[in-house]
Amino acid sequence: MTDSVKYFLPEERIPRTWYNIIADLPEPPAPVLNPGTKQPIGPEDLAAIFPMSLIAQEVSTEREIEIPDPVRDIYKLWRPSPLIRARRLEAALDTPAKIYFKYEGVSPAGSHKPNTAVAQAFYNKEAGITKLSTETGAGQWGSSLAFAGSLFGLEVKVYMVRVSFNQKPYRRALMETYGATCIPSPSEETECGRAILAEHPDSPGSLGIAISEAVEVAAQNADTNYSLGSVLNHVLLHQSVIGQEAMEQMEMAGDEPDVIIGCAGGGSNFAGLAFPYIGAKLRGGPAPKIVAVEPAACPTLSRGSYAYDFGDTAHLTPLMKMYTLGAGFIPPGFHAGGLRYHGMSPLVSQLMELGEIEARAVQQLGCFEAGIQFARSEGIVPAPESTHAVRVAIDEALAAKEAGEAKTILFNLSGHGHFDMQAYMDYFAGKLEDRDYDEAELKRSLAELPAAE
Ligand SMILES: Cc1ncc(COP(=O)(O)O)c(C=O)c1O
Repeated sequence: MTDSVKYFLPEERIPRTWYNIIADLPEPPAPVLNPGTKQPIGPEDLAAIFPMSLIAQEVSTEREIEIPDPVRDIYKLWRPSPLIRARRLEAALDTPAKIYFKYEGVSPAGSHKPNTAVAQAFYNKEAGITKLSTETGAGQWGSSLAFAGSLFGLEVKVYMVRVSFNQKPYRRALMETYGATCIPSPSEETECGRAILAEHPDSPGSLGIAISEAVEVAAQNADTNYSLGSVLNHVLLHQSVIGQEAMEQMEMAGDEPDVIIGCAGGGSNFAGLAFPYIGAKLRGGPAPKIVAVEPAACPTLSRGSYAYDFGDTAHLTPLMKMYTLGAGFIPPGFHAGGLRYHGMSPLVSQLMELGEIEARAVQQLGCFEAGIQFARSEGIVPAPESTHAVRVAIDEALAAKEAGEAKTILFNLSGHGHFDMQAYMDYFAGKLEDRDYDEAELKRSLAELPAAE
């Protein structure tokens, strides 16, 4: 037994391929449908907003997809990210459990999001695109695409959910430092933004609305493509570097996880850590418990329907089969902005349906409490989104203590919270409260699900 805390891999161990779980699924994913014809869409239907290389990745059934050298070179700025054993948290909890976390906050933008931002910017540049439009909730994704755009000389325009725009002025400053433009959403700049403001002048915004604005801009301008920070298959594919590295690092540590935990907004950091493990299980390997953690105020996997729905509020996207609270669902304005999304990645949804993963919904006060306990023992202040994973990791460690079991827990610390200190200040000032979603609002938005089957 060693008393190591950090497990580092050398740069040459950055994965050379991304892992595609579609190759190991017992059945192929449900097709993406054209909302008009209800027929499966083809690559050409997406060509107005995505480069062909990413469309090909979206539908690929290859298990391994090569990471281009220029992307791998940029990954070297922060990858491989460390795997850390939270020994001080274990001691504080007095638990027999071992707690490991993969720390993605070491990236330039402070989260896992650059893993896909760099890849998306690379493929768009290669396709001759000069501008990218996107949405951002917490600001982590917008900062990441702004960073990636600066490396490839792409202009980046970010529609930032208004409630987060107001809560996090320094995220906007970071995006501008990288040379991007950041606009609060809903905005007067787009048709769908204007329509929403006409009806709800005080709209706090949502990821679904911001996606509509960014897609509209990309669809109407030939030099502009759209970039999405989560949900889609190619985004989850790019995030697989997290789990591939973690598997090797856990081996270095001489441990095998019994429980794997990630917070889930659109599902990308959760999938990034969990999918390589789930793939190994589907190929006959060990079967850890896998938990996706979501906010009680936006409980997509726990309370949503598994159905075809739009990915955005204005219904500009094709229909995807996924867990959804309904594209019209606007969650309350709680602090984990990156988790305020009505849908869930179709691949994560399919694995939920297959019983390969479980979901847990948690309230924000308990999450901040866990984040603070983590900061006071491990030193890292987690992003509000990541505190959801910390909460459940602590709960699992306490349950192991109760049961007298020496469980091994692995969770994804998807980002740091250095730009989220207003949320912590609000918590300390007693201004935060647990938020429940509005049951009537959920009923209403689920009743509006498009009939697709
Ligand atoms: C730090 C952090 N973690 C998690 C998320 C949730 O996104 P996803 O579920 O795609 O990982 C976000 C989204 O903005 C984020 O910023």
